[in-house]
Amino acid sequence: MSRERVLAMLRERPGEYLSGESMSRTLGISRAGVWKAIEGLRQEGYTIASAPNRGYRLEDAPDRLRVGELFGLLSDAKIGSQLMCLDVTDSTNTECKRQAMVGAPEGLVVTAEEQTGGRGRRGRGFQSPRGKGLYLSALFRPDLEPEQVSDFTAWVAVAVCDGIEACCGIRPQIKWTNDIVLGGKKLVGILTELSLVSETNTLDYMVTGIGINVNQGPEDFSDEVREMAVSLSQALGRPVRRADLAAQVILALDRMYAAYPEDKAEYLEKYRAACVTTGHQVQLITPTARRQAFALEIDDSFNLVVEHYNGKRETISAGEVSVRGMYGYV
Ligand code: BTN
Repeated sequence: MSRERVLAMLRERPGEYLSGESMSRTLGISRAGVWKAIEGLRQEGYTIASAPNRGYRLEDAPDRLRVGELFGLLSDAKIGSQLMCLDVTDSTNTECKRQAMVGAPEGLVVTAEEQTGGRGRRGRGFQSPRGKGLYLSALFRPDLEPEQVSDFTAWVAVAVCDGIEACCGIRPQIKWTNDIVLGGKKLVGILTELSLVSETNTLDYMVTGIGINVNQGPEDFSDEVREMAVSLSQALGRPVRRADLAAQVILALDRMYAAYPEDKAEYLEKYRAACVTTGHQVQLITPTARRQAFALEIDDSFNLVVEHYNGKRETISAGEVSVRGMYGYV
């Protein structure tokens, strides 16, 4: 743990020298302990300069998701107040639920370098190649009825767009209800799972899992998804540090959760501005049928209002049907 705390201190002051003595005092470990942590980090690929009488300065860092990378940046945040950065797990959502069941507090964030059983909506899998994407789940325990959180994933989608914009300078769009797209291709998938207390039918906890394509190249996507998926590095033409992205996404989730559900007007406005589904012909897909309609607007509850050919309007809630563009994924 000393290694993570030393790293967190160095990351909090980019470009600055920190003396071994001040680190030792702040962290309550010996100077030798600081030196050992620095050596360990160097062996892991961190470039840390040292200068007599000045101390240590972080010059370059590998792209690793770890507590020391995030901890310092999230010191005031509720979401991210507990971090679990794993190397491999089946699914960060599943791990977050396991932690929730044994009493983990609200705000726990689980990340992984790789998921061996990444899960998507409607029972689909989510490809999660090692070191390429951001696979992150957060635990919420809002004091609300289950019906009151039906729009939660839409808020999360807005927060993820905010986080991506803060880190990368580009604002993606949202395909109703909560796929995040860039240039008509899927960039992010979000899976929210609820647990209810059966006796009272009240909400026990909510886990929101976010999978962002960050540094994947075409070879990292399977044949089925390659044509409709995109990564941030493909869009920007340069790699993106997943730890920086994770920090911005967690901070945006924290801001969103502090505003939830009171500041609905702001999130609704941002959602409507980002939504690519409205204003287009769409297919409404259920397990038994496909119908065509025109997507008119997002109503005040984040539902999609469509118009059928006979002029009839229908309001569709998340989870009822899957919506696809007529000519492609969006
Ligand atoms: C979808 O597009 O169908 C939703 C994909 C959600 C993927 C994320 S990755 C982190 C978290 N862990 C999972 O197993 N799934 C979510």
